[in-house]
Amino acid sequence: MPSKIWIALLLPALAPLALISHAQQSPAIISVDVAHPGAAISPQMFGIFFEDINFAADGGLYPELVKNRSFEFDKPLTGWHEVMGYSAAKGIDNPKGELSIHTEDPLNATNPHYLRARVYEPGYGFFNTGYRGIGVNSGAEYRFSAYARSGGPKAIRATLTDASGREIASGKLEGFDRKWQHYETVIRANATVEHAQLTLSVDEPGYLDLDMVSLFPVDTWNHRPNGLRKDLVQLLYDLHPGFIRFPGGCIVEGRQLVTRYRWKTTVGDITQRKTIINRWNDEFDHKPAPDYFQSFGLGFYEYFQLAEDIGARPLPILNCGMACQFNTDETAKLEELDEYVKDALDLIEFANGPVTSPWGKVRAQMGHPAPFHLEMMGVGNEQWGPRYVQRYKVFAAALKAKHPEIRLIVAAGPAPAGEPFNSMWADWRELKADIVDEHYYMAPEWFLANTGRYDHYDRSGPKVFAGEYAAQTSGVAKPDNKNNWNAAISEAAFMTGLERNGDVVQMASYAPLMAHVGAWQWTPDAIWFDNLRSYGTPDYYVQMLFASNVGTRVVPVTPQAEGGLFTSASLDERSHELIVKVINDTPAARQAEVRLGPVSSPGEAKLTTLQSADLNAENSFDHPKAVSPEASTVNVRAGTISAELPAYSVNVYRVSLK
Ligand code: AHR
Repeated sequence: MPSKIWIALLLPALAPLALISHAQQSPAIISVDVAHPGAAISPQMFGIFFEDINFAADGGLYPELVKNRSFEFDKPLTGWHEVMGYSAAKGIDNPKGELSIHTEDPLNATNPHYLRARVYEPGYGFFNTGYRGIGVNSGAEYRFSAYARSGGPKAIRATLTDASGREIASGKLEGFDRKWQHYETVIRANATVEHAQLTLSVDEPGYLDLDMVSLFPVDTWNHRPNGLRKDLVQLLYDLHPGFIRFPGGCIVEGRQLVTRYRWKTTVGDITQRKTIINRWNDEFDHKPAPDYFQSFGLGFYEYFQLAEDIGARPLPILNCGMACQFNTDETAKLEELDEYVKDALDLIEFANGPVTSPWGKVRAQMGHPAPFHLEMMGVGNEQWGPRYVQRYKVFAAALKAKHPEIRLIVAAGPAPAGEPFNSMWADWRELKADIVDEHYYMAPEWFLANTGRYDHYDRSGPKVFAGEYAAQTSGVAKPDNKNNWNAAISEAAFMTGLERNGDVVQMASYAPLMAHVGAWQWTPDAIWFDNLRSYGTPDYYVQMLFASNVGTRVVPVTPQAEGGLFTSASLDERSHELIVKVINDTPAARQAEVRLGPVSSPGEAKLTTLQSADLNAENSFDHPKAVSPEASTVNVRAGTISAELPAYSVNVYRVSLK
């Protein structure tokens, strides 16, 4: 247990002593040198890292409610079950038909499997259990659709039921014939149910072929048909992220090269996007997820569109010819790299190219003729070693020759120090790489001890992307890690160091971003959700405070880290405001004089405070905002804010300089 938590537990007993010493303690003096703003802070400083881990895409942000809609999972009937018949004499009986998987004359070649339902008796039914159940809201509409081809039956009934079998909604697709065709209808739920199931039943004998069986909320983000889950995108939007990194993470690499992320298979008609296994399916023995696959309904077009929707710069990470080095360590030969490099070049065309170019045309046909303004790209995820450097050189030669405007991000391995981190940095310095991606999944104490990490980085070397970080209260990816205030406030303290070094650190993102409470593999995560609800953790609110309150220039502040107080300041030249952050990471309320130099006219500062005296505090579905920002105002007198810093608090002051 971290020593801070012991202090918190002992606090009630020590309170009288604390009060005496607190009363005797003179205010901390924090000096902000407004007259000498320093380096520019990158406009995309604090962003988000999205990966399809913890059912964040299928079953989460991409709210398809039918699991294995295209029957392409390794076990093609995963998620599907027959309704057993019933006879008064025998009790549970045989079903009135039969389900089987076929491949002859499929919907298309990339989606070769389909379901054949043979109906022997009217009323034959089968059902889908969804992603850990199907969540529906009372009064909400859902679009049920499928491709169908019939050898007899002309219609199919879709019924949503709750655990007791009560009908919540129903509708019908009808008019089938012998050719594959798309059918859809909208049904309305009459109750809120977190774990409903979808039953399909057929009343006419013969066979019916089905593929792409889908149920989607009608009410999606920006009202897009079969678009993204509204509450989850709203949480991302509210963060004000400067960028969005996608699609990961290790998912970029795959366990083997054959299951690496290939963006070209994720764009265009969704029936043509080839489903493959998700690498988190069997990564952790303690959290097996045999039903975790990637439909790519959330593909690269949707990622770019999401970036645009939430005002974030797109940051795709591409496979560099290496599968996960923790798993197979499979590496493409140098002479096989052409395909990988071409993928990168074509992605730039897909994002930015004119509509007359082959990939720009695909983007336009999908509904976005305007460019997506891609400015940067990652080559490899969490790679390291000489093989990586060799492959990067091939990528860099091709990309820099054709697109010098695109900044390339390279990795420094999985850990923030030692080997291979040091040798990777030596290589990147020599090669004059643009930006180096550092990852730190470390204890809260590490974050507190490393707020000065970047103070002495070489100002003329490659820039830094803190591409994945999160305080681990128990250990890296341990299942008992908590998204508690202890973790979050240590990240906040660390982020003051990122901001103060805005000339070196260009971007930073907490990771992972999202997790389904019933289907996660990795914790901690910034956002948790179930089939109906979602909430931001204290870590999420720390991210929100920093991303919403970052200026354009670093402003010198002293002290930076002293006696449990951590500070940073910036000037926002757009709004003409000074932004000062003061973190009190001690168990006692503290007073501070925040001296703002030439800001001498009396006035008010806007204050946003994120705090909890309890380091174990967490948010939850029942108390989603237990630890969340509170707004107030404070006086500025004689160029000074008399700051009252609650125990364990993040305080952000915005002072107008107009
Ligand atoms: O964020 C979870 C994983 O941690 C990422 O996929 C990987 O890059 C890192 O090891």
